[in-house]
Amino acid sequence: MTKDTTFSSKFGLIAATVGSAVGLGNVWRFPSLAQENGGGAFLLVYICCIFILGIPVMLAEFSLGRAGRSGSVGSFKNLTPGKKWWIAGWFGLLASYLILAFYMVVAGWTIEYLWKSLTGELFEGFATATNQSTFFTDKMKDLIITGSAPIFWTFIMIILNLIILIKGVKKGIEKFSNILMPILFLILLIFCAVSLSLPNASEGLKFFFMPDFDKINSQVIISALGQAFFSLSLGMGILVTYSSYFPKTTKMVRTSITITLLDFSVSVLMGIIIFPAVVSFGINGSEDVAGMTLVFVTLPEIFAQMIGSQWWSALFFLLLSVAAITSTISIAEVSIAFVHDHFKVTRKKACYIILLPMFLFSTLCSISLNGVEWLQIANMPLFDALDKFTANIILPASAFLICLYVGWVLPKNFLKNELTNYGTFRSFVTPTILFLIRFVCPILITMIFITNFIKI
Ligand code: PHE
Repeated sequence: MTKDTTFSSKFGLIAATVGSAVGLGNVWRFPSLAQENGGGAFLLVYICCIFILGIPVMLAEFSLGRAGRSGSVGSFKNLTPGKKWWIAGWFGLLASYLILAFYMVVAGWTIEYLWKSLTGELFEGFATATNQSTFFTDKMKDLIITGSAPIFWTFIMIILNLIILIKGVKKGIEKFSNILMPILFLILLIFCAVSLSLPNASEGLKFFFMPDFDKINSQVIISALGQAFFSLSLGMGILVTYSSYFPKTTKMVRTSITITLLDFSVSVLMGIIIFPAVVSFGINGSEDVAGMTLVFVTLPEIFAQMIGSQWWSALFFLLLSVAAITSTISIAEVSIAFVHDHFKVTRKKACYIILLPMFLFSTLCSISLNGVEWLQIANMPLFDALDKFTANIILPASAFLICLYVGWVLPKNFLKNELTNYGTFRSFVTPTILFLIRFVCPILITMIFITNFIKI
């Protein structure tokens, strides 16, 4: 968002931030990671990550943005002029741009699935298929991995982003998401009910909710940490920018807890939808069913069991597309606002500067999934490499710097003043949060990093 944008109400403020937070990270990334990392074990570590690290880092970003009255880089400059701390803001900027490249691809799939549901193509041939169990896996390969279709839909997504971002965020998408985000919750609840009524649902719930402590290892911890940052849109300067439009009266601790719990509940609802279905349809963690298949295979399988499959499917992917768009625009906005402010170009130009190269970068991400050799990095497609590198490394590193800056570089009472709105109310959690930001977050992030590197 640029300087002329403000939040008109508390609801708008929370809706915009939740709109950025709730996205494909909850619906596509969270269940995939939970499945890869031991279900309940991952969930448990994830909960620790959001409470011990997520909320404090969010509050550090909020304080930085509200006091600094600018975006990622600008807030550092305003609060400590003449110092080099603004370099920390560049981490967020870099992360957001890299994330945009692969996020746009997944966002493209959501509108492709929406379209193919509306036309009925997604379910065509299912009833008569000889092998129904692999029907949607084959379909997914056709739709999102091979050929030019996924690239076409990614381009459509980039164009949609361009149109919305050039127009400005506030009037269009923010109003749109105010209505659609509550509907997303409602639809999720309906799908939960359907999934829970499947045979063997309890087996799936057991996998998701019962932690097997033996499965907790450094890989699980680093993935959960990365997911916490990714899902809450942390470490990228988004929340710094958004909070620069918070009024001085916003109670930030309460706001951050509300946002975190809403975001978390969407992820948990997705787990409740997906895991019973995984068990019921006998899908296991085989190589065919890595990552993205949970949303693009398992869900269509549930829809196929329902009367009016194609309409349920269309409804779901419509909401998913909206969740994706509210997130892509917030990711793109970080770089656009920066180019707009820093290089003093018009907003329109800034949108083109940031989004036109995406046609190339996202295409590279998309075709890397096809096994193109020169696009494999560290034994994985560019798409996955970017995802893991940004979420697991850059975001935590950027969060680490923000905690050091807010907790140690700025005057000692800075955080306390921000969290209590300059002493206008008392909050018994403030000392705990100060302690978490100053000591626990930096130390934990460092420890997780070191353990991970030693393992490599
Ligand atoms: N938090 C969003 C999600 O969970 C993704 C996102 C990441 C949005 C970074 C903005 C910034 O999908």
